[in-house]
Amino acid sequence: MKPYSRITGTGSHLPARRVTNADLAAELAARGVETSDQWIVERTGIRARHFAAPEVSASDLGAHAARQALEAAGMRASDIDLIIVATSTPDMIFPSAACILQHKLGVGGCAAFDVQAVCSGFVYALTVADSMIRTGAATNALVVGAEVFSRILDFNDRGTCVLFGDGAGAVVLQASDTPGILASDLHADGKHVGILCVPGTVSGGRILGDPLLKMDGQAVFKLAVGVLEDAARAALAKAGKTEADIDWLIPHQANIRIMQGTARKLKLPMDKLVVTVDEHGNTSAASIPLALDVSVRSGKIKKGDTVMLEGVGGGFTWGAVLLDF
Ligand code: UT7
Repeated sequence: MKPYSRITGTGSHLPARRVTNADLAAELAARGVETSDQWIVERTGIRARHFAAPEVSASDLGAHAARQALEAAGMRASDIDLIIVATSTPDMIFPSAACILQHKLGVGGCAAFDVQAVCSGFVYALTVADSMIRTGAATNALVVGAEVFSRILDFNDRGTCVLFGDGAGAVVLQASDTPGILASDLHADGKHVGILCVPGTVSGGRILGDPLLKMDGQAVFKLAVGVLEDAARAALAKAGKTEADIDWLIPHQANIRIMQGTARKLKLPMDKLVVTVDEHGNTSAASIPLALDVSVRSGKIKKGDTVMLEGVGGGFTWGAVLLDF
């Protein structure tokens, strides 16, 4: 049994339809909802997002990202013995998106399940996969973040519908003699359930409650900057590292102002901050692996770099993973 886990391949996928702020503003205007490119850019840093076609599911996006990650790792799907999908927009109530994705990859038999921690889902899933590898329960894991948030947006609520997009990112995490994942720090506080939620469910064949996203943006904003700093510092302390050891900071891509605030609190120069929110919007559990893959493929993140991943979202959930790439 090897003592560590390490990322050996990354992948990502965005649906073809790119919607700019101007496109979205025009669509919303037709509903009588007013917004502008200027407001969205100034308040969030978002310039565009991608929306999936109606027949495309989270597992479809995730399967594309997973195939890329497998190719980058030089592995076949049949080599994988654990699949974890982080999503809050699964294809069905059950089975999990992970089981559906497994079948789309043309394999069967390995453990597969979803993790639901909203925008912190990927750091939760990566931590679970790392723990399973280090205890010998798995050797080659596929960890995916995949979302179709466009399905749960209220396009009459300009305070939320301009923020989110669809997409997927994936990593192959393998047992390794050298680290890899250096430390994780995960948290949740259910008392904040109401500030970011989709307060609906199904019962007796009917939708109960409201199945569209609700958010108190300012409350989320204030909580996010503080907890992201705490989680990053806790992960650094567990790994015996300091801020100066971080080569790249990949926070959840929700709002450029939250991301810059976090980088400032960690005293990191802005050129160590990975930013994809401008082109992807907030893709919830997909945002971190998407940003990681984009940075790896562009040559920004190189083998051996120390990377801090940070998630925060509904629950309220938050956490950080520090790793050597
Ligand atoms: O993944 C989960 C994590 N989620 C987040 O990180 C979101 C955190 N929160 C935020 O990013 C920000 O709170 C928002 C971007 C959601 C909102 O920015 P804000 O600076 O907090 O704006 P606000 O909600 O205080 O609204 C300011 C004004 C309001 O108008 P009045 O009351 O001042 O007249 C809003 O009605 O902006 C108005 N507004 C808009 N105007 C044009 C809200 N949404 C829009 C819009 N276009 N899309």
